[in-house]
Amino acid sequence: MKVNWAERVWVNSPLRSLILKREIQFFKKLRDLPPESHCLEIGCGRGAGALIILREFQPSRLEALDVDPTMIRLAQGRKPSWALDHLLFYVSDAQHLPYSDASMDAVFNFGIIHHLEDWEQGIKEIARVLRKDGGFYFEEIYPALYANVLTRKLLDHPTENRFRGPEFRMALATEGLKLLSGYRETRFGILGVAVKG
Ligand SMILES: C[S@@+](CC[C@H](N)C(=O)[O-])C[C@H]1O[C@@H](n2cnc3c(N)ncnc32)[C@H](O)[C@@H]1O
Repeated sequence: MKVNWAERVWVNSPLRSLILKREIQFFKKLRDLPPESHCLEIGCGRGAGALIILREFQPSRLEALDVDPTMIRLAQGRKPSWALDHLLFYVSDAQHLPYSDASMDAVFNFGIIHHLEDWEQGIKEIARVLRKDGGFYFEEIYPALYANVLTRKLLDHPTENRFRGPEFRMALATEGLKLLSGYRETRFGILGVAVKG
């Protein structure tokens, strides 16, 4: 589900970029990528996270998708020349990834799984496209943050079949994604890396 105007303002803000930078630096400390890696970011929005992933992890290729063509246009418009050979932005649905099995070294998710109508299908797809030992790097939030008494009036999210920590961690385990120790979790969300066994 696309973001509404209020969430668009938030995800396109400088503060959001700063948070993404700190989270990506945290990910790198938890688990670096192998050289020459091929990565995917789902729900890339205007591409702020993708540029930080490129700078911090230096993968040889990063493909970044979003279901919203307006976001992809914004991302394409701010792609710097140094990223041209390594980065592709395109429109697609994270619930049906256009990749063969075991084709990615890493998948990044910054707050998009909770936007999926079928979030378990999203996790299934991530696990399918990851190679063995590939990493799922995620920031995910729970209804206590995006559907509380205030935010549910301001933001648009699917309302059926929602997850919190236990369901999210269970879905990772079901798909063979092992959560690395050192992850951070509060009642509002989770930040961590899970590795395909
Ligand atoms: C909360 S925003 C996060 C954007 C960016 N990742 C960030 O952290 O700033 C969620 C993004 O997921 C995208 N999205 C929602 N449903 C999607 C889907 N089914 N497939 C791909 N992207 C989706 C939205 O268009 C939006 O750009």
